[in-house]
Amino acid sequence: MKTNSVFTLLLFVLFLFSCDNNKSTSSFELDPVAEKEIDALIKKMSVEEKVGQTCQITLDAILQKDAENVLIEPHQIDLKKLEEAIDIYKVGSILNVSNHTFTLENWNLIIKTIQEKATNSGLKIPIIYGVDAIHGATYIQNSTLFPQEIGLAASWDTAMAREMGRVTAYETRASGVPWNFSPVLDLGRVPIWSRFFETLGEDTYLAKTLGTKIVQGYQGEGNVDKDHVAACLKHYVGYGFPRTGRDRTPALIPERTMKEYHLPPFENAIKSGALTVMVNSGEVNGIPGHANKHLLTDVLKEDWGFAGFSVSDWEDFINLYKVAQTDSTLKDAIATAINAGVDMSMVPNNPEYKNYCKLFLELINDRRVKTERLDDAVRRILRVKHKLNLFNTPYTNKNDYPDFGSESHAKKAYAAATESITLLKNKEQLLPLSTSSRIMVIGPTANSLNCLNGAWTHTWQGVDPQYNNTKNPTIYQAVKNNAQSCDHFEGSTMKMVNGDEADFYSSDLATAVKNASNYDVAVVCLGELPSTERPGDIYALDMAKEQQEIIKKLSKTGIKIVLALVEGRPKIISAIEPLADAVVQCYLPGDQGGQAFADILFGKTNPSGKLPYTYPRHSGVIMHYDHKQSELINANTWKNDFFNPQYNFGFGLSYTSFEYSNINIEKNDYLLSEKEITISVDIKNTGKRAGKEVVQLYARDHFASISPPLRKLVRYNKVELETGETKTVSFKVTFDELGFYNYDNLWINEPGKHSFYIENLQATFNLK
Ligand code: BGC
Repeated sequence: MKTNSVFTLLLFVLFLFSCDNNKSTSSFELDPVAEKEIDALIKKMSVEEKVGQTCQITLDAILQKDAENVLIEPHQIDLKKLEEAIDIYKVGSILNVSNHTFTLENWNLIIKTIQEKATNSGLKIPIIYGVDAIHGATYIQNSTLFPQEIGLAASWDTAMAREMGRVTAYETRASGVPWNFSPVLDLGRVPIWSRFFETLGEDTYLAKTLGTKIVQGYQGEGNVDKDHVAACLKHYVGYGFPRTGRDRTPALIPERTMKEYHLPPFENAIKSGALTVMVNSGEVNGIPGHANKHLLTDVLKEDWGFAGFSVSDWEDFINLYKVAQTDSTLKDAIATAINAGVDMSMVPNNPEYKNYCKLFLELINDRRVKTERLDDAVRRILRVKHKLNLFNTPYTNKNDYPDFGSESHAKKAYAAATESITLLKNKEQLLPLSTSSRIMVIGPTANSLNCLNGAWTHTWQGVDPQYNNTKNPTIYQAVKNNAQSCDHFEGSTMKMVNGDEADFYSSDLATAVKNASNYDVAVVCLGELPSTERPGDIYALDMAKEQQEIIKKLSKTGIKIVLALVEGRPKIISAIEPLADAVVQCYLPGDQGGQAFADILFGKTNPSGKLPYTYPRHSGVIMHYDHKQSELINANTWKNDFFNPQYNFGFGLSYTSFEYSNINIEKNDYLLSEKEITISVDIKNTGKRAGKEVVQLYARDHFASISPPLRKLVRYNKVELETGETKTVSFKVTFDELGFYNYDNLWINEPGKHSFYIENLQATFNLK
C-alpha cells in the first residue's frame, strides 16, 4: 500500500470514528478547563470522598432534634451532625425542607452554614442542594407562586413557560439553592394518578415544547449564572403511567409507545442542555426505573450523550429490595442501581446514609462496582457543580435578589394564571358577569389559598394554611373585592381524615338554597384538597357527592350557576355539568388564581386557556384525543361515536369568536425528499372584543403498517387578534415528524395519504 493510501485509509477511519462519536455528542458544551480541573480533583479524591459525592441526604438528617427525636422549632442545623456528614461521610448533596417552608433569611443561613462547612473540609467541594420548586419557589415564604404545571400547560404559551422558569429560578437561587427538582415531564395520561397536576398534560408534543422552555427558563443560557438553577427532569421514565392509577405502581409500556410518547419530552430537554435527571420510582414492564440499564445508560447517556448526572428518587436504592424486591439485600440494590447508571442516591435519611456509604465502599473493594463507574458518576456530579459555579459561589445573599416576591413577579404569575384558566361552557353568554350582579360564592374551594396552590406549597402536601401568603385573595375574596354584592357560603367542607380527603355536608347549604332568590348568580367552587404522591391516591375519579349536591340543590331554585373547578385532576362531573350555565376550569392556578379568576368572571380579561388533556365523561372510560379508529366503534349506535369526552383536548372558549378559513398547502403530492411542508390558515376575530386563540395543527397518516392514531398535535401557536382582525398563521412541518415506529421499532415514513387539521378545516396530500 502506498503511503498516500495509508493516509487516506487513516482519514477514513478517523471519519468513521467521528461519525460514531456523533451518536454521543455531549448534551451540553463541556468546558475544557473545567474538565481538566475535575479530572485533577478526581485523581486527588479518596474512594470515601468519591462515594460521598454520590450520597444525598435530607436536611432533616442534620437538624437539631429533642430527646424524642422531634425537630426543634425554629429549625436549626445540628453542627455535630453536619460535621459528621461532611467530614466523615463526605456527602456531596443535601435536599429538601423538613416539614415546612422557611423564610429567605433562614434559607440563606442554612445554605451558608452548610457550604462553609463543605468548602473548608477535605478537598473543599461544595454541596449541591436541591428542592422541589415546582410552581415557583414553593418552600420559601412570600415567594411568587405560579399555576401548577397542568395549568401552565393550559396556557399553550411557550414564552410563559420560560418566564415561569426564569422567575422560579431567580427566587430559588435567592435562597442559596441552585438545583430544582423540576420540571415533571411524565405525561398526564392517567387522570386518577395523584401527580396528574404536576404534568404538562397528555400530549407528547405539548409536554416536549413547554418542558424544554421551562428548562431554558431555569438554566438560562450557557453556564448557569447566579440568577438561575439546574433543572432536574423527572421522573425518567414512564412513572406517570401506572396501570392502576396508584402512585409508584407498575406501568406497562411497549417499546414503541415508550419511544413515541414517553421519551421525546426528556430527549428534547436533555438535548437542549438539562443538567440533571431524576429516576422513575416505579417500574416499567417489571424492571424498576433504578435498575433499567437500557434506559439509564444506553438511551440517556450513550444515545443522547447526556453529560449531567442522574439522581435516584426518595429512598429508591432501598426500595429496590424493600418494595420492588428485585434485589435481596441493600448492598445488591446499590450495585444494581449504580451499575445501571444512577449517579447519585437520594438515600436520604440518617442513619441510612451512613450504611449506604459503608456498603458502597465494600462494593468497590469487592469490585462489584468498578472504579471507572464510580469515577464517571463523580465526574458528572462535579461537572454540574462547576456549571453552577458552586466552587466560586457556593451560596448567595438575598440582598442580591431585590426582585424576590416582587410586584413584577406577581404580575408574571397572574398572567400565567390568566392565560391558563379555561372557559369550558358559557350558555347564553352568561359570562362575563356584570359587577352589579348579586353573587353567592359557595363551595369548599371558594375560600382557600391552599386549594388554589395544591401540593408542594410551603409543605409537601400543601394543606397547612399557616404559611400562606395571605395578601393574595382567595376566589371568594377576589370576587367580593370586585362585585357590588357578594356573600360566601361553605356548601360543603373537605377535611383530611385518616390521611384521605373526606367531604361533609355543610349546614349553610340549606340557607344558601333558601335565599337563592336574593342572588343573580351562584359561583360554585368545587374540587379537591391538595395532595400528591401516595397520600394523593384515590379510589374513584368522581366529584365528591357532597359537592355535587350543592349544584343539584341550587339548580332547582333556578339561579344561574357558574361552576368553577379548582382541581388537579379532572373529577367526573357528568351528572352536574348540564345543570351549570357556565363552567370554568381553574386547575391549580397558584397564589394569583383568585384574582385571575375574578377578572375573567367580570370580563376584565378574556379567557384563552385550552385543555391540555381530554376531560373524561365517565371514570371507566379514559380515552385520549389521539385515539385510534377501533376505539370509536360504538355497538349501541353502530356509529363511530364512542369518543364522547366531557370536553376534548385543546378545547376552551373565549368571550370573542374566531373563524378559521383558507387552510392551505402548496400541492397535492409531495416527495419525501422535499423534506418539509408548509401549512397556512387564516384566522379572524369575528367577535366584539380582542382575544387570544391557540391555533392547533394536527396531522394524520391515514394508512400505516402500525395502526395510526386519528390525529396527533404537531404544532401550535397562540395568537392575539383585535376585533375584526385577520391573521395568517403558517407552520412548517418536516415529513420526518409525520413518521412513526414501525414493526421493528424503527422510525419511518410510509408513502400514502396524509391530512392536516386545523379546527374544522382539513388539507390532504399524498406523500410519495
Ligand atoms: C418525589 C420527587 C421529589 C423528591 C424530593 C419524591 O418523593 O417523587 O418528585 O423530587 O421526593 O422531594
